[in-house]
Amino acid sequence: APSDDALFALPKAELHLHIEGTLEPDLAFELAARNEIPLPYASVDELERHYDFSDLQSFLDLYYATMDVLRTEADFAELTRRYLAKASSQGLRHVELFFDPQAHTARGVPIETVIDGIGAALDDAERDLGISSGLILSFLRDQPVDDADRTLSAALGRTDRIIGVGLDSAEVGYPPSLFEGVYARARAEGLHVVAHAGEEGPPEYIRQALDLLGAERIDHGIRAIEDPELVARLASEGIALTMCPLSNVRLRTIDTLGEHPLRRLDAAGVRVTVNSDDPAYFGGYVGDNFVAVRDALGVTSDEARRFARTSFETSFAPDERKRELL
Ligand code: ADE
Ligand code: ZN
Repeated sequence: APSDDALFALPKAELHLHIEGTLEPDLAFELAARNEIPLPYASVDELERHYDFSDLQSFLDLYYATMDVLRTEADFAELTRRYLAKASSQGLRHVELFFDPQAHTARGVPIETVIDGIGAALDDAERDLGISSGLILSFLRDQPVDDADRTLSAALGRTDRIIGVGLDSAEVGYPPSLFEGVYARARAEGLHVVAHAGEEGPPEYIRQALDLLGAERIDHGIRAIEDPELVARLASEGIALTMCPLSNVRLRTIDTLGEHPLRRLDAAGVRVTVNSDDPAYFGGYVGDNFVAVRDALGVTSDEARRFARTSFETSFAPDERKRELL
């Protein structure tokens, strides 16, 4: 079996990472003090005691509340800088980050503040750490579709930074079909398109993401395993799943890591990758997720290398960068 060190050192790409989900408790308290925003917790320990989630919604409630400490361009830059330092130490050479603009604009933080802050840190990481990157604008699917449409329009002034769009937040009851028009517009603008689907929602949502949104990758897709026909389709069409094993356990999508379908999907010919989702909340960054699936599923060195290779191949890095990475 591969050692922890080997798994951390393995060069890889992260394709499923919410930058707001990298807000560690110590930085949350620092920013709360700096911006004079009261947090409803007395200490880091007390905050962490609330990281005992029962489902996706219970996590999202805390996630949206805590990100209120992020206010200035410098805050977003610092958040991103700290993530990239961790990313580098866990073997990441390329990262595609989700951000949730509506969660910031709704509290009066302009989208430019968010994009420019994150962007400054991404530029530094390219130069200092050799990490290439791209930003994926994620629509909140539990907010009105009009709001997503306006958010896309506002972001079109920054398409130098934005490589694609995604769909996240509470899944059940908010099917991909709602966003068909917004996604058509994003595709017409030349943006890549991905969507969270089949995390808590049914396999049907994965089909909709493919058929109605034109999703190039599916984020999570864990419930595809319930539908053999869909598994066969994902395999034959080469659609990658950006899986997040520690997240799925912490949000109780599965009871134990041993039940995670990562390896079964791989055996069925589906392209799978290992990612961290919201590492500050779920107990580990991408290297930690590799270690966890080695321990729980017996992922071998060869398999880990293959998953890492798939992460480069199914990334949206430009072809010449892909050749360097592979
Ligand atoms: N936003 C941040 N993390 C998420 C997740 N795991 N699922 C849906 N939306 C999210
Ligand atoms: Zn996610």
